[in-house]
Amino acid sequence: MDTFKTVTESQTTLTELMIPSYANFGGKIHGGIIMGLMDKVAYVCSAKHAGAYCVTASVEDIDFLASVEVGELVSLMASVNYVGRTSLVVGIRVVSENVKTHEIKHTNTSYFTMVAMDDNHLPLQVPGLILHTDVEIRRFFQGLHRKQLKKYYRQEESRIKSDFEMNETIELLKTERCRIERVK
Ligand SMILES: CC(C)(COP(=O)(O)OP(=O)(O)OC[C@H]1O[C@@H](n2cnc3c(N)ncnc32)[C@H](O)[C@@H]1OP(=O)(O)O)[C@@H](O)C(=O)NCCC(=O)NCCS
Repeated sequence: MDTFKTVTESQTTLTELMIPSYANFGGKIHGGIIMGLMDKVAYVCSAKHAGAYCVTASVEDIDFLASVEVGELVSLMASVNYVGRTSLVVGIRVVSENVKTHEIKHTNTSYFTMVAMDDNHLPLQVPGLILHTDVEIRRFFQGLHRKQLKKYYRQEESRIKSDFEMNETIELLKTERCRIERVK
């Protein structure tokens, strides 16, 4: 029988204080620290929904909108936005709080595609998603749309590769900031 779960059943928040050892050479928090936390919260959220171990298949749209300072409290809010057969998309919103002033800024939003795995490390069917709110319906639809766009981009990329024409490409690159110095 096909099982379904609600979005709230797997919603997860991970909060961590940004300590000095997380800083980069510019004194701000290293992007990799935030990405590592995103991967962790995506794992927990997806494993809760799937009821199984999940792996990260792809990550989309990591834009750093604002830098994070040492001493801030970073919270990552994750929820399942979309489910396929064995894959699911976890949407993650990252905010950073200045603990002295309580000022909160939105630093990232990203989408992690996770795949549930069985004990033989083969993709496993995940439960369907029960959509209660308008926001949940919109997010599910956007997840579906993003999946279709990704398929389209992949096809376009392989088309560009197979149709690649050198002289035409060199002509197109003339307005770009590159200097072609071909070697044999
Ligand atoms: C992700 C992985 C399990 C997919 O294996 P696969 O042989 O392609 O499996 P399938 O073709 O059956 O695809 C399984 C699902 O993953 C989805 N998928 C696979 N690759 C994907 C990608 N790059 N982006 C988005 N979804 C992807 C498929 O669409 C399918 O979804 P669906 O069942 O909901 O339709 C496999 O590529 C893997 O193990 N990758 C390494 C994962 C890992 O180690 N992550 C940590 C990185 S450090």
